[in-house]
Order: sequence, then C-alpha cells, then structure tokens
Amino acid sequence: MDTLVIGAGGFVGKYLLRQLLEEGRDPGATKLPREHLALDGVEVFDLELDNQRNIQRLLMEHRPAQIYHLAAQSSVAVSWKEPQLTVDVNIKGVLYLLEAIRSIEDYYPRILLVGSGEEYGFLRKGACPVTEDEPLHPGNLYAVTKACQSMIGSVYARAYGMAIVMVRAFNHIGVGQSPQFVAADFALQIAEIEAGLRPPVMKVGNLAAKRDFSDVRDVVRAYTALMAKGYAGEIYNVGSGHAVAIQEILDILLELSREFIAVEQDPHRMRPSDVPLIEADIRKLREDTGWRQEYPLRESLQTMLDDNRRRFGIG
Ligand code: GDD
Repeated sequence: MDTLVIGAGGFVGKYLLRQLLEEGRDPGATKLPREHLALDGVEVFDLELDNQRNIQRLLMEHRPAQIYHLAAQSSVAVSWKEPQLTVDVNIKGVLYLLEAIRSIEDYYPRILLVGSGEEYGFLRKGACPVTEDEPLHPGNLYAVTKACQSMIGSVYARAYGMAIVMVRAFNHIGVGQSPQFVAADFALQIAEIEAGLRPPVMKVGNLAAKRDFSDVRDVVRAYTALMAKGYAGEIYNVGSGHAVAIQEILDILLELSREFIAVEQDPHRMRPSDVPLIEADIRKLREDTGWRQEYPLRESLQTMLDDNRRRFGIG
C-alpha cells in the first residue's frame, strides 16, 4: 500500500480509489465499521477517527507515502441538526490524523485535506468567482469546521514543514451520492414518480441559491493531480468555475423526465440560513496541474437519473 484514503466508505471515496487504481497506485482505504466497501486490489480497514491511537497504528504499519483525508460529516443540512458531531468529526479528526503523522519517526507523507467552497460563505459583492485568498465568512457550522480544518492544515504545513495540500471542493454530484444532497434528491424523486411510487409532485427547498457543480469523476481527478503537483501549504479551489441556480438543476432534470411533474416548496428543506452564491475561480488549479473538466452538468444529471431508473426497473 503506497496510498491511504481515509473515510473511503462514502460517495467520493469509491471514485477516488478507482481513479488511484487507474493511475497505477496501490491504495488502501479506511471506512466506518457500519459502511460497506469492497474493491478489487484495495485493502480496507475499519477505522473510527475518534482517537489518535488507531490511525497512528495503521500509519506506522503501512507508512503510505500519500494520504487523502476524506473522512467528514459532509452535509450542511445535517450540521444544523448535529453541530457537536460535525465539530468532532471535522475538526478533531484532522488533528488526530496530523498529530499521528507527526508522532511517527522519519515519516513525511504527502497529505491532501478536503475542505469546502462553503468556507467562503457570505461573499462581498463582486467577489465571485472566488479566489483562494478571499477572506472567509462561513454561513453555517459545517463551513466553520472546514475553514478550521484549512487553518489547521496551514499551521501544520508552516510550523512543522508537513507536505499538506488543501482543497476547497465545491458541490459535486454523481451516481451513488446520498439523496441528502440536492441533485441526488431531485433525481431520486423523479425516478420514484416515473415508477409510480409517489404522486407527481417534487418537493424542493431554496431554488434561488447558486452553486458550482462538478461531476465527482472530475473532482477525484483534480485531487490526484493536486496530490502529484500541488504546492505544500497551498489551498486550491476545485469546481467547474460556473455557478448555476438550484432552479436550473431542477429545470434540467424536469426536462429529462418522462412525466409532467408539479413543484412544491417543502418548509423542512429550507435552511435557517443559506449562502446565496458560491462560484469557484479555478485558475490556480488549472495553472498548477493542467486539470480540465470533462463531464458537462447535463450529462452528469442524466447519468444520475438513469441510474435511479435502473434501480426501480424502469431503465
Ligand atoms: N439537500 C437539498 N435538498 N438542498 C436543496 C433542496 C433540497 O430539496 N432544495 C434546494 N436546495 C439547496 C440548498 O439550500 C443549497 O443551497 C443547495 O441546494 C445545495 O445543497 P446540497 O446539495 O445539500 O449541498 P451543499 O451546497 O449544502 O453542500 C455540498 O457542497 C459543499 C461545497 O459547496 C456538500 O457536498 C458539501 O460537502 C460541500 O462541501
């Protein structure tokens, strides 16, 4: 094992592992005991990142040269309901990891920390597309924890000379994403309607928000490119560079649907506060790695809808 993906049991981890295998690496992965993960060529370990000892033991035994830290409570919506959990997983988790690495003699892996475009939060007028040096004004607790993670990463890179590259990932979508996120939720609702499992009414939240969506396959290519070519101590935006309103995501999916579907706002899907616009400036990512987006938004949404249709036997 030359590469370890921590928190690989979620949506992004499986795509990242496949990308690493394709690039000829020898990855291992950690997952939560309750998660399922099995991939040919990948050694999988159960790990709760709730103390330093367990991760330290794993790292001492295998000494991976590259570490991707994906383990997180990754939902903004959940962070409103579970603030303590979000802080524990997202802030304490990265500290356990970095301290474990530091405690191992003669061990200097490259580390990629996955933060979020949400860290920027409420931007001043004219700040979009947002560059990496824009001041942060997080609008929710999830964003606060990710901003904190980036700051912790910067401190450890500067103070201890650790090879930490930090990412601010904007919204990503794809097959296998949990329906707690908007595009996966809408695609699932449409397939359920088409399968006759629910009345033809889509439940939606705030459609006015604008977010920068990318296909998860493009996102993991950006991660491996940054692991290879990103500068230690630096932060990189990973997104498409174009924000779209959630209304537009809905419109594309409705256009792809086979039914006439009404739209209804569901108060439970509205958040106490929602940042109006987040759009990435991706020049730094492009210039330092040569990365380019491959999957257009419509194609990603079509793939997600088709996957849901297959699951309901209406493909
Ligand atoms: N989930 C959800 N469900 N969101 C809805 C809905 C709905 O029915 N209707 C509208 N929205 C709006 C939300 O209010 C938000 O403005 C936007 O759709 C996107 O919501 P999510 O898909 O839940 O993602 P997120 O933007 O809160 O967070 C995602 O992106 C971040 C980067 O920008 C996650 O992937 C984070 O992990 C990631 O860091």
